[in-house]
Order: sequence, then structure tokens, then C-alpha cells
Amino acid sequence: MCGIVGYVGKQKAASIILEGLKRLEYRGYDSAGLCLLQGGQLDLAKKAGRVEVLVKEVARHRFIGTTGIGHTRWATHGGVTDANAHPHISSDGKFALIHNGVIENYAQIKTFLLTKGYTFKSETDTEVLCNLIAYHYAKEPDDGGASRLLECVRKALRHVDGTYGIAVLGVDFPDELVAARKASPLLLGVGDGEYIIASDASALISRTQNVVYLKDGELVHITAAGFTITTLDQADVSPVVDKITWTISDAELGSHANFMEKEIYEQPVALENTMRGRFSEDGSTANFGGLNLSAAELRQIDRFMFCACGSAWHACLVAEHLIERYARLPVEVDYASEFRYRNSPLDRNTLFFVMSQSGETIDTLAALREAKRKGYRVLAINNVVGSSIAREADGGVYQHVGPEIGVASTKAFTSQLLLGAMMALYVARLRDMSFNDGVQYVNALKGAPDLVRKTLLQAPHIKAIAERYSGYSDILFLGRLSLFPIALEGALKLKEISYIHAEGYPAAEMKHGPIALISEKCPSVFFVPKGEIFNKIVSSMQEIKARKGKIIAIVTEGCELPAGLADEVIPIPDCHEAVLPIVATVPVQLLSYYIALKLKCDVDKPRNLAKSVTVE
Ligand code: AGP
Repeated sequence: MCGIVGYVGKQKAASIILEGLKRLEYRGYDSAGLCLLQGGQLDLAKKAGRVEVLVKEVARHRFIGTTGIGHTRWATHGGVTDANAHPHISSDGKFALIHNGVIENYAQIKTFLLTKGYTFKSETDTEVLCNLIAYHYAKEPDDGGASRLLECVRKALRHVDGTYGIAVLGVDFPDELVAARKASPLLLGVGDGEYIIASDASALISRTQNVVYLKDGELVHITAAGFTITTLDQADVSPVVDKITWTISDAELGSHANFMEKEIYEQPVALENTMRGRFSEDGSTANFGGLNLSAAELRQIDRFMFCACGSAWHACLVAEHLIERYARLPVEVDYASEFRYRNSPLDRNTLFFVMSQSGETIDTLAALREAKRKGYRVLAINNVVGSSIAREADGGVYQHVGPEIGVASTKAFTSQLLLGAMMALYVARLRDMSFNDGVQYVNALKGAPDLVRKTLLQAPHIKAIAERYSGYSDILFLGRLSLFPIALEGALKLKEISYIHAEGYPAAEMKHGPIALISEKCPSVFFVPKGEIFNKIVSSMQEIKARKGKIIAIVTEGCELPAGLADEVIPIPDCHEAVLPIVATVPVQLLSYYIALKLKCDVDKPRNLAKSVTVE
């Protein structure tokens, strides 16, 4: 999960690359570096730490070149050190390389290269690939082809097992850059006489909205005069230039303190954008243009399978609840990383969904590929146009919430909840849901943004609670039915941005073990919605209270709890079952956010994490 940037053009590359790295830093922030090809040499600056550390280091150099590469790292092979930071230079000093991914057979290649006299300064797999390119350059005569640099990279990649998004410079190839991808995202920004290669659009949107999304197995050769794309097998590729639909301001903080705050407060608009144009004219059902499935084909479906990771997996669990409740179809949800190897029996009329904000999560991509290999139609709920999952799915639905920069998913998560609810409605109305029930459901979904706005008004109250609970080292999140996944999500949010241990559990399940954790040192967050199980949840709360456990209760407005049962109460508006998970998510997003702030944690770039998990 690293961020890579490359530039070939007329401007000084250093500042453009640094700006790109700042925008990609959410993808990995252990170390950063850049290398410019200038004056016939590869000039390098790289440091452990954030991009801001690199900025200071670069200021000590005279970087005036117009061709360069840059990288911000999430460590896979080798610790967080200056030596392990990218770019890496081959031991003959002729090539510089940056890499996002994992070279799985790096040890065998390294052993071979050591016998050929190549030396290594780092513990990384990336440096091995850099020396392998140098080896091919030294070994093979110039065949007079279009580009020797391109051919050396191509030959080296043919020996690689694993994943890569790379960019390569060669000291003998001024104004040339070669980039290639396999399972790690890479796109080419086509500017005015300049070209920018990057892991995602946020690094180049300030210079161009014209992009070419590279596909697996493709290599792009860039010179000052233009670019060509070919495959590992040397086939020519006709590039398709797409236009990015969002602007640089979407990826900027504006007046917010951090991206997580911005994206929490963007949720009402994000939900409106997710729904926009996706309800039927008669207002009784949802309409999805990109499923590539007719109503008749959908009616043949007798089972859903969802695969995802992290928060997206929680969203799938809510979708399961709503599809089973309203469409009366069985749904199975699996971690993408588990599905890949479980070899679960899928029957013929299973509709397979993957859910992924980034569209690049490698486990989810692999689950998609495994399902397609088995002949299943795979649909994707995804937020990034042109992402690997978007391109490889047989159809799907874009979330349209704009770039989500904060590592902790917020607006993308509630958008996924909404799309799951809309999918449940769509299928239900193809089956047994009445017109009137459909209209009620649609109206409830349309009201969701305002209910989120109303719940966001609780922020000061939730902030005060968060500050009272920031000192605990263990917190339970307890919910039932469609709010059990929101308990999981609340626990994940707290863990990933405040580093407090938290667990999500079905509320009634807590007495089968986890209640042993309860004492005055381990508070619980309960979701207590109005409805059939309100009293059951109150009973679970009593069991906690009897053991001196403090309780934060997220309660539907108007529902009275027994006096003294909850230590803190956060009211949420009464709402339709399909909207309840969305509304109930907001308090736990804010709770974890304010606890993390109180603990002075970096909510946008939590330790050890990165926004898109593109390594296994
Ligand atoms: C969510 O807060 C986490 N950052 C993480 O669990 C994330 O949801 C997961 O990695 C899946 O990412 P995706 O939606 O981009 O596939």
C-alpha cells in the first residue's frame, strides 16, 4: 500500500513529485523518497518518516531536473529505515526504481544476482527488481528497439512473481520513464506536454483530469515527446484517455481540521450523491444502471454472496440483513481473504458481490477473480472509477462520494450501507414487496441525509462523552440484528484511530464469555433501537450494570431507559429499519474520532495502517 509518482515534462519535477506524495501519503507513510534524472546522473533523497521529513531533505539538494520519481512507503519487506525507503538505485548506479507491491520470488532472484556480483544496501524486495533490470541491461546488447530501457524492464518483469506498480529511470535514458503494473494500481496523467504516473488520481488531479488507467500486465514508456503502452508480451495497446469527474478541492481539507472530520461531515451530501438518479420514476424502487442484469435475470437469482474486507465487510453484513428481511433471499457474507481459499460451494443462481471503497484491495480483487474463474457474474460496489475491481467486475454501482482520504472509512462506509439498502429494495420490489411499501422505503432512504445531519448535531455532546471515556484501554460495542455490524464498525473505528482495544459483539452473545471482561474498567457502548428487541437489549444492559460496567447507550429518541441504567445517552432519530444502520453509525464515528483527538492520535494517518491494502 505505497504511493508512487513519476513525472516527465517541462517543469522542475521535484516540487510536482513532492506535491503528489503529500496527496498519496494516506496510502502509506513509513518513509518517503524521490530521485531525479538530471545532469546525466540519478540524484536521490530519501528518509524514514513522513513526507514532511523528505521535504526538508530535498531542500538540502539542488533538484532542477524535469524527470523524476517519488515514493511514500508502507513497509512490507524490511523495517522503516532510510536504506529501505524508495527509490532504490541498482548497485551499478544505472537505474532507479520505486515499487508498490510484493515481489514474492525476490529471495531466489537475489541469490542469483549475488552470484553475478550485484550488491544490496536494503532488506527490500524492491531493490532486487532494480538490480534485475540492471542485470538485463548489462547482459543483453542493444537490439535497436524502441527503447532499451523499456525492454530491460520488460525482460526483468517476466521473471517476477508477485504484484507491482513500478516506475523506473535509467541514467543512460534521459527524459525517459518506464512504468508497469500488476495488481497494484497505476494511472497515467496526460497533461499539456507533461506526463505523470501515479498510484491514484489524487496525485495528479491538480495538473490534469485526463488519465489512462493502466491494466495488469501493461507497461508504459514515457518520453518528453509522448507515451506508448505495450504488454509484457510486447503487444501494442491503444490507450483510452478518461476524464476524472472530481476536482482537486474534493481532495483538499478546506476549513476542516483533518480529512476524517471533513468526511464525517460530508456524509449527508455523500448519501445524496450516492442516491442521485437511482430511484424509479414512480418512486417505489431503486434503479441501477450498471448492473448489466435485466429484471428477468435478477428474478432468477436465488442467493447472494458478498465478499469484502474491513468496514466494507461490515457493510455487507448489513446488506445481508436487509436483503434477507425485505427480499426474502438467502445471503452469505465472507471475508474476501477467507473466501479465496475456502473453496465454498456456490450454486448456479448465486449473484456475487464485492464491496470496496478503493477498488484495489487485493484480497477483494482476488475473491472477485476466484468467483469469475468459477463462472459467476460478479458485481462491485465501489467508489473509484477505473479501479481494478471496477474494471474487472461484470457490472456494479459506483458510490459517487468523491475521494475518501482519511484512512478510517466514514462517508464511503455509510454510502455502502445505503447502496446495500437500495439493493435490498430493488430485489424486493422484483419479488414480493408492494408498491406502497416500496414508496415508504424510498422515502425513508431519501430522508437519510437529513437524519444524519440531525445526528451530527450531537457532536458536542458526544465529544464530552468521548473525553470522559478516552482513558479506558478496553471498550465493548454491543448491538443486535442490523446494528451488530455497526457495533463491529464502531469497534474497528476506535481501534484503528485511537489504538484502544475494542470488540464488537451481538448484544445477547456478550453473556457467553465477553461479560467476563466487564468491570468498572471496561465500559460498553450499546445500540438500543426502538422495536421488538428493545427490552431484550435493556436486559443485556442490566447484566452489564450489575457488574459495575459503565454504559454509553445510543438510543432511539423517545425510548425511555430505566433510570440510572445508562451512564451516557446519545439519542438518534427514529427511522426506517433500512436507514437505522446509517444513522446509528454516526455516533460511533464521532465517539472514536473525539477519543482519538483527546489522545492526540493522527486520525488521518493512524500508525501501521494505509488507506488501500494492495498487499496480501
Ligand atoms: C476502514 O476504516 C479501514 N480503513 C479498512 O478496514 C477498510 O475498510 C478495508 O481495508 C477495505 O478497504 P476497501 O473498501 O477499499 O476495499
